[in-house]
This record gives sequence, structure tokens and C-alpha cells, in this order.
Amino acid sequence: MTRFARITGTGSFLPPRRVSNQDLVNQLAALGVETSDEWIVERTGIQARHFVDDHTHTSDLAFEASCRALRAAGRQPQDLDLIIVATSTPDMVFPSTASILQRKLAQLDAASAGIAGCAAFDVQAVCTGFVYALSVADAMIRAGNARCALVVGAETFSRLLDFNDRTTCVLFGDGAGAVVLEASERPGIAACDLHADGRHVDILCVPGHVHNGQVTGDPVLKMDGQAVFKLAVGLLEGAALKALAQAGWQAQDIDWLIPHQANIRIITSTARKLKLPMERVMLTVHDHGNTSAASIPLALDHGVRAGQIKPGQKLLLEGVGGGFTWGAVALTL
Ligand code: UT7
Repeated sequence: MTRFARITGTGSFLPPRRVSNQDLVNQLAALGVETSDEWIVERTGIQARHFVDDHTHTSDLAFEASCRALRAAGRQPQDLDLIIVATSTPDMVFPSTASILQRKLAQLDAASAGIAGCAAFDVQAVCTGFVYALSVADAMIRAGNARCALVVGAETFSRLLDFNDRTTCVLFGDGAGAVVLEASERPGIAACDLHADGRHVDILCVPGHVHNGQVTGDPVLKMDGQAVFKLAVGLLEGAALKALAQAGWQAQDIDWLIPHQANIRIITSTARKLKLPMERVMLTVHDHGNTSAASIPLALDHGVRAGQIKPGQKLLLEGVGGGFTWGAVALTL
């Protein structure tokens, strides 16, 4: 019998501090950096983002999102045999944020301690991270290496921002989204299409690294926005079409496109190319900003909890980001 991997629960978490464009305009003005609500809304669609406080780490956001996803799936931590966290803002250089998340889940109650021993690792594919992580979990479940996986996208991108650089600091936010992915006889994930092109490493990166006990190089986000924009628009359609073809679906079959939420102009351009009306595109960019690997599972959970995304519907998830990486996943919920 064919073994599929199916999403059985979703969850997400945003840190409580909501920073509107105007809050950011005021904060940046104090640094002598000029921007405006009009510019940010017109060029990106972003109206607000959420930022963590100094004491909150990526694993804390991942933990909250994971608890909600587990609850939605009717699962306990000890049911899991795989944890994958997609992040570019890990708590530490090592161990993985997935290991730290596992420890936090194990401490929930006595029975949860049974989660110890399950495989746990991070995936680093920047804003495409969740699409990559979901594909890896799907492959492991279909191969029989896992039965019940927790797949998380979690980020504290505010930690990487240079608030003197108005071309990047207005774009990003913090948050986490998670899904429980389980082995099933019913079809779930139908196709995955992943890509990377390392020739474009420099257009979106945080070039700093730890060396001799110090951070060497620039540990803040650098982006050539226009280069990223052009590549993103060109590549997303290709990945979407390949995933659809692999699934044997037409674009018109899709109930919801759940794109990486970086810029409303990139999203509308992809929807137009796929001839999908915007009513079938899940949008959270206005309220979340770009939360990198967290943006797709955040948007998915947002749609599920709002009652818009329903069981049995066909979804197309697609992401693009640093690396350069891009990819798409077609699935039935
Ligand atoms: O998650 C990974 C994927 N990342 C992305 O998808 C990001 C892709 N890139 C983008 O979304 C867009 O390129 C940006 C939103 C980053 C920039 O939009 P743009 O339309 O490409 O603007 P631009 O870089 O061409 O800049 C236009 C003008 C410039 O001024 P001049 O040179 O025309 O006088 C910038 O200096 O806008 C200026 N500008 C700003 N003005 C006010 C740039 N940032 C700001 C700002 N506030 N925050």
C-alpha cells in the first residue's frame, strides 16, 4: 500500500510586540534614518511586523507554535519520532534549535519526556527553509524512517537587522509556524520541487561568522533587493509549475496558493502568471512582514484557523530566499 505524508495539525505564534510602520518610522527617525508608511506599504504591502523582546529566542517561538500544532493534531510530544526546524536565526551556533525545542517539549509533563530520543535537526535554506523541511520530512515518512513528524519554521530576524539600513530593516519580522506531518494511507503531500543556485550567495546574506571567539565580518542582513526581486519573480513560477506537473494538477485545481510572504508585488506577479485570482492567495505579509522560514507555516495556520483553508483542499506552498534557494510543495490538506 502506498504510504503518504499528510498534515494533521497546524499551529503558529507571533511575539506580542506588534510594530506598525509608523512605530518603525518614529524609531528610525531617532537614528536619523528616513522612511515612511507610504513607501513601505506601496513597495512591499507591509503595514506591521512583530518583534521579540531581548529574552525570547527562536526556540521559544517554535515551542509555542509546536504546542498549538500538536494540540490541533491531537498528538502529544511523545508521539513524535522526528523534529525538523527550518531557521536561519538559531538560538546558538550549535546544537540545533530542533534539539533545544525537543528539550522544551520534553519538559511539558512527565509523559512528554518520552520525546527524548527522536531524531531532531535544523534545515537552513533561509526563506525557502520550510518548503525544504517539509520535503525532507515527506521523504523520510514515505521511506518508512518516520511516522509522526513536527516540521517548524521559526525566526527571530529582528536580531539580524541593521536599523541604519532602511532598504532592509523595514521588511522583516519574527514568528513561528509548525505542522504535524503523519504517515497516512490517504494522499497528503503530492509533490515537492526544490532548487538552489549558489552563484547568487551574495545578493542576500549575513556575512558574519564566529572566528577565534569573536564575530568576524558583518553580522547583519545584506540584500540587493532588486536582484532578489527579479530572480524571485522568474523562479517561483517555474517551481510552482513543476510541482503541479509532478502532482498531475493544473494551476486552476489549486484552492489556495500559500506563498512566502516577502513582498505583495512578488506574490501578485506569481498569482498572475499562474492565472490564480487573488481570492485564492493566502496573504499575511501586511501584518507579519517577511518572517523568512516562518512565513509559509504562519500563513497556512492563519488560513486554517480563520476557517478559510479547509480539509480536503489542494494547496500550493512556494518559497524563495537566500542561497539562492527556491521551491514548491503541492499537497492535499
Ligand atoms: O525573503 C527573501 C526574499 N526577499 C525579497 O523577496 C525582497 C525582494 N525585494 C524587494 O522586495 C524590493 O526590491 C524592495 C522592497 C527591497 C525594494 O523595493 P524597490 O521597488 O526595488 O525599491 P528600490 O530598491 O529600487 O529603491 C527605490 C528608492 C530608492 O531611492 P532612489 O535611489 O530612487 O532615490 C531607495 O533609496 O526607494 C528608496 N528606499 C526607501 N525609501 C524610503 C529604499 N528603502 C526605503 C525605505 N523608505 N525604507
